[in-house]
Amino acid sequence: MPILYSSEKKLFTLHTAHTTYQFQIDPYGVPLHLYYGTRCEGEMDYLLRYADRGFSGNPYAAGDDRTYSYDTLPQEYPVWGSGDYRSTLLSLRDEGGTLGCAPRYRSHEIRPGKYALSGLPAVYAAEEEAESLSLELVDERLGLSLTLLYGVLPECDIITRSVIVKNRGTQTFRLGRLQSACLDFVGGDFDLITFPGRYALERQADRRPLGRGTLSVGSRRGYSSHQYNPLVFLCDREATESTGRCWAMQLVWSGGFLCEAERDQLSQTRLALGMDEVQMDYPLAPGESITAPEVILSYSASGLEKLSHHLHRCLNRHVRRGKYRDARTPILLNSWEASYFDFTGESLLALAKKAKDLGVEMLVMDDGWFGARRDDKSSLGDWTVNEKKLGMPLKELAARVNTLGLAFGIWMEPEMISEDSELFRAHSDWALTIPGQAPVRSRSQLVLDFSRAEVREHVFASICAVLDSANIEYLKWDLNRSISDVYSHAAPCQGRVLYQNMLGVYEMLEKLCARYPDLLIEGCSGGGGRFDAGMLYYCPQIWCSDNTDAIDRLVIQHGSSFGYPAAAVGAHVSICPNHQTGRTVPLSTRGIVAAAGTFGYELDPAQLTKAECGEVRRQIRAYCEDAPLVRGGLYYRLSDPAKDAWCAWSFVSEDGSSALLGAVLREKHANAPAQYLRLRGLVPGARYRARETGKIYPADALTDAGLPLPLDCAEYGGFTLHLERE
Ligand code: GLA
Repeated sequence: MPILYSSEKKLFTLHTAHTTYQFQIDPYGVPLHLYYGTRCEGEMDYLLRYADRGFSGNPYAAGDDRTYSYDTLPQEYPVWGSGDYRSTLLSLRDEGGTLGCAPRYRSHEIRPGKYALSGLPAVYAAEEEAESLSLELVDERLGLSLTLLYGVLPECDIITRSVIVKNRGTQTFRLGRLQSACLDFVGGDFDLITFPGRYALERQADRRPLGRGTLSVGSRRGYSSHQYNPLVFLCDREATESTGRCWAMQLVWSGGFLCEAERDQLSQTRLALGMDEVQMDYPLAPGESITAPEVILSYSASGLEKLSHHLHRCLNRHVRRGKYRDARTPILLNSWEASYFDFTGESLLALAKKAKDLGVEMLVMDDGWFGARRDDKSSLGDWTVNEKKLGMPLKELAARVNTLGLAFGIWMEPEMISEDSELFRAHSDWALTIPGQAPVRSRSQLVLDFSRAEVREHVFASICAVLDSANIEYLKWDLNRSISDVYSHAAPCQGRVLYQNMLGVYEMLEKLCARYPDLLIEGCSGGGGRFDAGMLYYCPQIWCSDNTDAIDRLVIQHGSSFGYPAAAVGAHVSICPNHQTGRTVPLSTRGIVAAAGTFGYELDPAQLTKAECGEVRRQIRAYCEDAPLVRGGLYYRLSDPAKDAWCAWSFVSEDGSSALLGAVLREKHANAPAQYLRLRGLVPGARYRARETGKIYPADALTDAGLPLPLDCAEYGGFTLHLERE
């Protein structure tokens, strides 16, 4: 049984294969966090220390005991109003504006399987793969109930958390903050790893020591964002890829978020994660409830890569869904960088023909096929096929692409509306705009109000009309601006709109997945601006970045790999000089980098030389062969792109029988010293044969001394190496 309850000490113990999480209901009904670390049996309440800290108040029920304070004790769900002045998870005002609540333990339930969250994406598991705990806390004065949810997936070393707030009272509350979970640490000197970035340079791993005070990252943009990612690692200062204690928190949510890491007056650390609070002012009427998005937690006693493996496995097996959770996705050629808005049906067919000849399996028609869209200034919302531009109906185009032997896919941006569109002219109130205030424009577009059912119904019907009109097997679901002007022209109360808007997006994606179970939906947001576990529940892959420059991609894909599996990372080979950076990188290197993701092309094959066409054919054959290892193997980061000249990684099969190594030289210097790449994940004592050279290596030497890297490699050159266990 992964979840144990000892009634004598009111102790809850959650076991996974290698970790244990423990908390206890204290004498006053508050759940105190005790331990999250290496699996062990026993009671960890011995870790709690009590002292009068002065100005750290005491619960009334503790009488004269000045040593008992929620300002210093580690907790499971700290709330504002309990005398805890650190970052708390819930702040709630009653009708009169009074801030504070005091929820206390009422009951709990343990049941097999993994709980689900109504309207929200969440980790799923078969009944025998997981166990769930729900813990009910009640504030009698307010009639408030908090249900803390815990899911335990023992084989993945994953614990999930969420919380449902319900108003059982008679007055409306206002929620100003509803965080999903925190991890409290009574000791430790930690580094925080976050994944900041910007458009076209997303998710660069950023590691900083935690000092006194609060370090926070988040998105106030209404989507998870390019700028920060809802994923955070906390680790020992000396932790490395393969040593040291580390913890992960990953939010299954695609809206704005907030992550706070606070080192308090006693050098204790609290790591909290949940929804953005700046745009939160949520009224909860009597009888209503709200569910906080889920947080995935994991712990590793042996470094960062193990933590990534836990998250990858969890996302691959318990978050991503549908046919393409396991099956390799088709090798696609996307028209965007090939022709941007400038295409016709015939020009796309010409692309398809050449693509087929190279071994490509699908053609994707990107932006520009609908309404009167000639550039990015118009027509979002008008999802009617521009047959004049295409020169043929969509059905015919798809059929002719199919006849050439390729599948066919399209681009859409369903959450947006252009002011220059039929839809806006008919329903300007469907856009989020504040009456009397000029809205913020971004990419010349406004945001549709997905909190409104009639808007969702209209958009859903428009999408279905397109998908039903032709044989469309892929949909790129894009979002190209941050949300502002959060005002719904239909909502009685604006404080809920952003949350309801996100739930509206999820509802539509869920309906699409149900109606088109074989449709491959690739998430996208100006590249990788909405790259999160929430979207992965609906879209098994997400376009990782609009930056297709292989050298920049090394950094982006390295950062993404901390929390996201390669099967989720949309990656294409594009033309050189690169459209984003102007850099020229050998085609072979571009292939090596894209092959560490979903692999595809984003170019016009007519621009390739004969020799390059040969190289592309070879790349596609190689990727198809390597795909099981790339999509299902364990991923090892073998370098740190922030400081190493070589950037290297490997995929190793779970049984260690084969490995695929990728390496690219980012920076070349004359007469450089020899460098050795120390591999990991190989079976100790085994011998491995390199497929490319026939050389045989002892695994332990590859691990301890390393593999010599070529001295004659030119800048931006690279290689792959397949190692097979003898
Ligand atoms: C976004 C996407 C691109 C492309 C364009 C089309 O920027 O990330 O890949 O689809 O939109 O407008």
